Amino acid sequence: MAFKLTWYGHAAFGMDIDGTQVLLDPFFTDNPVAAEKGDDIAADYIIVSHGHGDHVGDTVAIAKRTGAMVISNHEICNWLNRQGVTNVHPQHIGGGYSHPFGYVKLTIAHHGSALPDGTCGGSPAGVLLTPSAGGKVYFACDTGLFHSMKLYGDEGLDLAVLPIGDNFTMGPDDALKAVKLLVPKTVIPVHFDTWDLIAQDPHLWAARVEAETDSKAVVLAPGGVFAL
Ligand code: NI
Ligand code: MN
Repeated sequence: MAFKLTWYGHAAFGMDIDGTQVLLDPFFTDNPVAAEKGDDIAADYIIVSHGHGDHVGDTVAIAKRTGAMVISNHEICNWLNRQGVTNVHPQHIGGGYSHPFGYVKLTIAHHGSALPDGTCGGSPAGVLLTPSAGGKVYFACDTGLFHSMKLYGDEGLDLAVLPIGDNFTMGPDDALKAVKLLVPKTVIPVHFDTWDLIAQDPHLWAARVEAETDSKAVVLAPGGVFAL
């Protein structure tokens, strides 16, 4: 029973769930803070939250190299098919499925989802994951604050991963409100400092979280690991 999360920088993650390798939004090429190149990264599954280039990232190349199954919304799965990626599992907002590594539910996200070539990428999503290793993890992915986050928090979250970068997503103030709605045991901030436009002080934010809530805030550096 093991769940190990590695942050590769920006919003890219790798999860080792009882030995199964699951990537989320594997953005390595052109990611100025990437802790990996992605050229030889292992993957059994790849989850793509929405169509933007900083989230689809290297999905096509990694899926073709590894044969990993890509889990995303219906529109992005169709687009991946047209890029030659055939091993896909389409889901959609509010829908969950028991994959071998855990139950994946796509959640609401208020954002855009156009793919890099301009194709409509459907609705953007967050990810509520119940790993087979145990626990419950919520990745808000790219979104603004919304009150229904409380419903995800009601499921009892061991970990929430929230954007704090502002400009494209929640900034620090709204992300702090999100922590209050989600009440996770631990929260990890992401989607900041990749570019000047989303520069933030994650340690200042973490101090605010720990002063105003009972959640523990963990600030990772790119390449950093968190284990449940
Ligand atoms: Ni985005
Ligand atoms: Mn983004």
